Order: sequence, then C-alpha cells, then structure tokens
Amino acid sequence: MRKNILLGITGGIAAYKMVEVASRLTKLGHSVHVVMTEGGTRFVTPLTFQSITHNSVETDLFTPPEHYNVKHISLADAADVCLIAPATANFIGKIAGGIADDLLSTIVMATEAPVLIAPSMNVHMFHNPILQDNLSYLRDKGYKIIEPGTGVLACGYQGKGRLPEPVELVERILYELRSRELAGKKVLVTAGPTREPLDPVRYLSNYSSGKMGYALARAASFRGAEVILISGPTTLTPPLGVRYISVKTAREMEREVKKYAPEQDIIIMAAAVADYRPVEFRAQKIKKGDKQGLNLELMPNPDILAGVGKNKREGQLLIGFALESENLIENALKKLEKKNLDMIIANDISAFAGDENEVTVINSTEKEKLPRMEKSELADTIMDRVIRLIAKN
Ligand code: C5P
Repeated sequence: MRKNILLGITGGIAAYKMVEVASRLTKLGHSVHVVMTEGGTRFVTPLTFQSITHNSVETDLFTPPEHYNVKHISLADAADVCLIAPATANFIGKIAGGIADDLLSTIVMATEAPVLIAPSMNVHMFHNPILQDNLSYLRDKGYKIIEPGTGVLACGYQGKGRLPEPVELVERILYELRSRELAGKKVLVTAGPTREPLDPVRYLSNYSSGKMGYALARAASFRGAEVILISGPTTLTPPLGVRYISVKTAREMEREVKKYAPEQDIIIMAAAVADYRPVEFRAQKIKKGDKQGLNLELMPNPDILAGVGKNKREGQLLIGFALESENLIENALKKLEKKNLDMIIANDISAFAGDENEVTVINSTEKEKLPRMEKSELADTIMDRVIRLIAKN
C-alpha cells in the first residue's frame, strides 16, 4: 500500500546515499517527502531529491506553503514514518534538547509517526559521551536509533559511524511500516540446506540457497507475525524482526523445530533437508586411497515435516514444499496427505537456487498455479494464500 514517507536529511556527507533511498522507495510506489536542513542542502541539492521523488523538497520553516496549511504540521501529520538520515551530532543534540528552530526539527517535534534516526559521523564524534547520552535519552523516549556501520569513514578514519547502505535503510523503513494482518500469530519457518558431516573437512549437502524460506520469513515478519527462522548454512542475512536460529545438520534442525513447534500457529518448512547422512562420522580426514573407489554408507535422516504433521494440534497450520524432478503435482498431493499438511507448495526443480520460482499452491480443496515470479513477490503471494486459509479454518 502507498505510504507517506518523510526523509529528513541533515548536513553529513552520507546525504548522497539518501538519493538512492529516495529512489528505491519511490519505485516501490510510496510517496516520498524530503525535508532538508540548511547543512543537508550543502551536500546534495534539493533539486536532486525533487527530480527523484516528484514531490517538492522543503527546507524552510517560513516560506509560505502553496496551499493554505501550516507546513510543518501538515508534513508531520501526513507522515506514516520519518527517517532522519544522515543525522548529525548537532541535529541529534537539538532533538534531545527539545529545540525546534528549523523546519525539520519542528516536524520531528510535531509528528506522531515513528521516527527513525540514523547517526552518521566521525568515529570519535560518535563515541562522544554527550552524543551517546543523547542517543540513549532519545531511545528511552521512543525514537528508534539505527546503529551506524563500521568501516572507512569519509573523514579518513576507520571505525563506527557509517550510514548503513541504502537497501538496509529502505528495509528498515518497510519493516516499520509492516502491517498487522498476522499480529499475535507465531510463525516458524525452516530454510536452507542441511550439511551432513563426513569427516572434519567434508560434508554432504545440496544446492538450496535458502532464498525462498528467508523470503517467507520476511513476508510473515512484515505482516506483524512473531517469526522464528531455523536455517541451515546460507549466505543470506536474516530478515528484520525475525528470531534467527542457525543449525547445520538435519538432526540439529529437528531438535530446534521440536522445541518451538508446539507453540506455533503457522509452520512453514521450506528447508531442503538432506534425506540421508553418513552412518559414520570419521574423526580424522579420509585419506585418498590408492586409486580405489570409496563407498559411503548412508542412513536416513528424520523427516522433520512428517514428525510435526503427526503431532499437529488443532488450529495449527502446517505448510510444506515439494521439489520433484518428475510427476510434481501427483507427488505433492501424496505428500499433502501423508504428512498431514494444510498446504503444499509444489516447485519445479529448475527454481532451486535461483531468484525466481514458479509454483503450484495446493490445499485439500484447491490447486492454484501461480505465474513465475521473484521469490520475494512469491513469498507475499503465498502469505496471502496462508491468510485466506486461516480465515477459512
Ligand atoms: O518428502 P520430501 O522430502 O520431498 O518433502 C519435502 C518437504 O518435507 C519440505 O517441506 C521439507 O522442508 C520437508 N522435509 C523435512 N525433513 C526431511 C525431508 C524433508 O522436514 N528429512
């Protein structure tokens, strides 16, 4: 849904990153309003933001508004969320001290929307006790402080003080705007591959990237659910607001799932669990033989999903995935029944590690083939179907 997002830009070099933030949010269909302090305009011109957001950029408290309304109040009231980034030590000090002497500080004082503050400055300024006191004071008052990153700073120093990257800032804003559709619901998602160790340096695994599971955990979190993500090894960053539990083997995953499953409302098993593991773990590295082959003896891993299905309680929704190289729908339907699932997502093997997926969503009464789409978009669509199913139950 289209939201009003207010970006407050103060006088720091990282202001340039906000051009991309404004652009990404606008492309997502939101209405972005930029307000700049005098210092902010020294780094990036208002015209840049105006061209990107297609909204006028405000800098001055006293320029009369085009339509009659009190400018700082109308901007403050219209905002669904405000992000002050980069936030200078000076601006943070002003808000903490209750000073409202320009348009942006007046808006921050007047708004009832959540205010996110992203400090960005030299590492020594950041660690200055006055600034730190101001930040904890603001935190106590309900302002949300976005921790700066660590790295090379524009001043030449190395340390904490970097404004997070635009994608991270956008994600933080979107998380703040999350809906309440799944508020009060507990959701557990499994994702990624598992690794079954052979010896200290080798393991058996599969090509799963974890993207689908992470996208589902994000979609649930961004609809207000309390989400636990139990994941095998991936290169992905856990979504915001999600409780992340990292595991390696199928048995570790099973242990964690069993621990949390009973209290969940919705359980989505998107992990590509290894079906077999080596019978024996060799404590020493397996030596290369003399041109001889090597036979590995494997034994089955627990079927975590089937176990949860057996113990499913009244009102709990259980969703599994089916990945097949042949007879996809037929096999998926069998699994739906055999594992006591409420929904199964049948996906083609070609989508395994990529960014897109093409699936059929199947429950006991319906079969819906969805068009090929990005995994993030697909996760949202699947979540819509899950919500529909909850409403029916
Ligand atoms: O039976 P199959 O492995 O094809 O079923 C796939 C579904 O079962 C997926 O949802 C997967 O996460 C889950 N699964 C599991 N434990 C296993 C194997 C698969 O939870 N050992």
